[in-house]
Amino acid sequence: MSKGTFSVTTPIYYVNAAPHLGTAYTTVAADTVCRYQRMNGYDVAMVTGMDEHGQKVADTAEGKGMSPQAWCDSMEPAFREAWDLLDIRYTDFVRTTEPRQARTVQKFWTDLYEKGWLYKGSYEGWYCVHEETYYAENDLEKNEDGEYVCPDCKRPVQLMSSGEENWFFKLSEFQEPLLKFYDEHPDFILPTTRRNEIVTFVKGGLKDLSISRSTFDWGVPLPFDEGHVAYVWADALLAYATGIGYADPDRADEFAARWPYKYHFVGKDITRFHCVIWPAMLMAAGMPIPEHIFGHGFLLTKGEKMSKSKGNGVMPSDLVNIFGVDAYRYYFMSDVQFGHDGNISMERMVQVYNADLANTWGNLCSRVFNMTKKYFARQVPAAKPDAAANPLKPIADGLYAKFDACMENVDFTGAAAAVQELAGAVNHYVEDSAPWNLAKDEAKADELAAVIYNALESIRIIALFMAPLMPNTSAEVFRRLGLGDIDEIVDIESAAAWGQLPAGNPVEIGDPLFPRLDVDAINLD
Ligand code: MSP
Repeated sequence: MSKGTFSVTTPIYYVNAAPHLGTAYTTVAADTVCRYQRMNGYDVAMVTGMDEHGQKVADTAEGKGMSPQAWCDSMEPAFREAWDLLDIRYTDFVRTTEPRQARTVQKFWTDLYEKGWLYKGSYEGWYCVHEETYYAENDLEKNEDGEYVCPDCKRPVQLMSSGEENWFFKLSEFQEPLLKFYDEHPDFILPTTRRNEIVTFVKGGLKDLSISRSTFDWGVPLPFDEGHVAYVWADALLAYATGIGYADPDRADEFAARWPYKYHFVGKDITRFHCVIWPAMLMAAGMPIPEHIFGHGFLLTKGEKMSKSKGNGVMPSDLVNIFGVDAYRYYFMSDVQFGHDGNISMERMVQVYNADLANTWGNLCSRVFNMTKKYFARQVPAAKPDAAANPLKPIADGLYAKFDACMENVDFTGAAAAVQELAGAVNHYVEDSAPWNLAKDEAKADELAAVIYNALESIRIIALFMAPLMPNTSAEVFRRLGLGDIDEIVDIESAAAWGQLPAGNPVEIGDPLFPRLDVDAINLD
């Protein structure tokens, strides 16, 4: 029996560049939550996609000498391949140039037009194409040449003025309703630091938002005024609706079951769009508002935000080639506290890999599997209850509650630490029980069997909880323990109950799951 639906999104990414470590970060995080909640009994939807309209993408295409559509088409494989490489199990991939997205955008804004939330006016002000964002003059910064630059990306901004008539959404009318909503839903914006920023921003007053452009045609035409295309954010946010079937008659039931979203995972740079504009749009449409917007921090290299344009963007595939996909996922999820900015480095990645994966988890499997071979001819021994002390069971018994609470708070670091605590305890247990000594004494045969059984059973349970972070190695451990397909688990709580590893199962030793790495031997060139 399913516990219900659980719907999650990543942002839909601009296609001006291929996915990099920053965009992969949000995507892996969303996938980790989704994988866990599938194992935890939920019917999960995970929507991702590509944000293809707007001036930034059109300019990029022009720079490449291609039509915007041809450029976007050429970028799709890069995104799909990156997500496949990282084992992302999305359920829908929305491209904003798809006809179904145009249906969503047209249906949604026509509805708001008919409800009186739009009016025509003219916008005089500043726009940053790179951020696809309007800025108030007093938010801008100046560069050395005295030019106004974007406060976020520091690029020169454009003055948009005169003559261009736009459609405006009456965002200013939502100041009070939004503040009331934040108050009544204190965990709508996570983590709390972001919530405070947004509340302060909204208290400062909201301006109406221009949601259409007429000087420019790379976008979805608005049906009530054909010369206008939707502003890129007035299009992109609605991809979340498209991804679970809005405006798709064949998916009406699905949409009803999956809306509203449980989480939108976004970087802190785009929380305003998600925490202010998006809920206001939904309030205007009379649609339920998502449960949580989680604004994570930035990955930094040497203290600076990593980005493709700054040229400090190593590609995910570079790291996967060295560390493997599971270690990639584990490092980013466990070593940077989700919600905070975090420095990443090759040295640190090797350190975490060697400590947590090679020396703790991987080594534990090798050691215990080898002992099973040596003392029990590669078969899980039958253990008599109480034949040996078992300090592992209480830790294993408490693991679901701990892990689940961490996942509920999107605390991947805590979740990984909870599993590592059990792995560390098994390593100590093996050390303390010294099976190699027990094996010398006939009278201790039952104790030896119990020690090996307890260690193997703990390994089974560790594999279960590592699976959302590291799906491949967990599947492999299940296989080596002669167990079924870990992917079929939909009730991790009962699967994790102690004592389910069948005695007599054949155990395969296999190669080390995480061979040790030497930082000096790694060459990224
Ligand atoms: N297209 C918009 C999102 C529309 S959602 C309706 C967009 N796209 S983006 O391609 O620029 O990337 C978005 C995501 O990547 C953001 O969540 C952003 O925070 C994240 N990251 C980009 N660089 C990053 C880091 N260096 N570190 C962590 N995440 C970063 O914005």
